[in-house]
Amino acid sequence: MATKRALEGQLAVVAGFENPRAALEQYPTPPELAAHVVHVADLQGDVEGRTVVDLGAGTGMLALGAALRGPARVVGLELDPAALATARENQRRVGTTTPIHWVVGDAARAPLCPTEPTTVVMNPPFGAQKGREGADRAFLAAAASLADVSYSVHNAGSRDFVEAFAADNGGEVTHAFRAAFALDRQFDFHEADRKEIETEVFRIEWN
Ligand SMILES: C[S@@+](CC[C@H](N)C(=O)[O-])C[C@H]1O[C@@H](n2cnc3c(N)ncnc32)[C@H](O)[C@@H]1O
Repeated sequence: MATKRALEGQLAVVAGFENPRAALEQYPTPPELAAHVVHVADLQGDVEGRTVVDLGAGTGMLALGAALRGPARVVGLELDPAALATARENQRRVGTTTPIHWVVGDAARAPLCPTEPTTVVMNPPFGAQKGREGADRAFLAAAASLADVSYSVHNAGSRDFVEAFAADNGGEVTHAFRAAFALDRQFDFHEADRKEIETEVFRIEWN
């Protein structure tokens, strides 16, 4: 298995959102965090030979990270077609030969029904803005119905919510780790040029 550092390097070419939409919480996952999540998933045997679905795929960072680790195929589901146009270009830059299906659609009504072993990876909208609290709930519900294992990135402090949601929906959190990354200013309401974002990543097994 290649190193996490090597994967980070391969993902460094992935371009972010050209015109990020605040309402969709279009924050790109940095390559370091994407490589970390995918590397852990690979070590757990959750990538190779499986179908990997990225919910809210954006410009493809997590989907492409998974594609570089030998899955049977990858599906990137995303509401915003412009983001998927960039994801396609990123696929070309990364140069993976894994079949990737970029699908425009709503994760809350995912137009997918995989029957083979399936892993979901996702950095969903956190619902950090007023009025959008709990936006990640619909993504977790989609993971519960599509996958037998999922990896999801959440706002720090989400552990109780994620564990309770998993327990109520036939799942169990088996691994959790914290990760911080620096987010560059990209929306008018951002007050600082750079902000440290504290996140928590969860592996959930769904029954
Ligand atoms: C935090 S960004 C993460 C993007 C990308 N996965 C990454 O890791 O860089 C969340 C993504 O979810 C998408 N999104 C938001 N609501 C959605 C929905 N209901 N269905 C599908 N995608 C959605 C946004 O457009 C955005 O691309």
